[in-house]
Amino acid sequence: MKYLLIFFSVMVGCLGLAAYVMKRFPNPPCWCWSRGQGAIVTTVPHPAWHQYASFGSYGTETDWNDPQRIIPLDYHAAHGKLIFYQQCVWCHADSTPAGPSNRSNVTPTPPLMNDGTVFNGMSDASLQQIITRGGRAMGKSAMMPPYGKSLTQDDIRNLIAYMRAIAVPAYRKSSSGSPRDRKNKPS
Ligand code: HEC
Repeated sequence: MKYLLIFFSVMVGCLGLAAYVMKRFPNPPCWCWSRGQGAIVTTVPHPAWHQYASFGSYGTETDWNDPQRIIPLDYHAAHGKLIFYQQCVWCHADSTPAGPSNRSNVTPTPPLMNDGTVFNGMSDASLQQIITRGGRAMGKSAMMPPYGKSLTQDDIRNLIAYMRAIAVPAYRKSSSGSPRDRKNKPS
């Protein structure tokens, strides 16, 4: 009888303590692992341009015309993608991760960046020129800004690698000069 009484009083005491603790701490404390212990929490510097692909995984892009198709991006194209989503997406895509793009408000309407019918026929050198010097310097619309001062030539090469990777119809690097040269050759 005495032992039963002790048993019950200990049990009621425990329940009371548990009830008190649950009331006192809205987030139940973890008994097995004190917060912060074992986990070293540091803030890694996180430049804005890391947000769409992390180091190591070079990244992918979903085919804009066919969401089922995932395009693997190599190192350069993945970097180009980061720059594209920072600088060009507002005009050269119909939507952006932040919502609708500005493309429909721009005159002339900028070509979609994956439009192979526009870009496949242009050489890397002429793309490099127009991105560096802007539309006006190249006899095109001044709505296409020059990026020679804000991007490095390597950035622009990476952008072109990205454009080539996502092109629809697919871009095939020609070993025999420009598409016009190829047209004149017997196939
Ligand atoms: C403010 C809107 C805007 C932004 C931002 C922009 N572009 Fe353009 N871009 C245009 C317009 C408009 C044209 C069409 C110019 C024309 O055909 O006269 C164009 C044309 C181009 C062309 C040439 C197409 C052709 O037919 O010759 C390339 C290449 C290009 N843009 C790449 C880029 C890249 C790369 C970026 C980002 C670094 C970028 N653009 C950012 C508006 C923009």
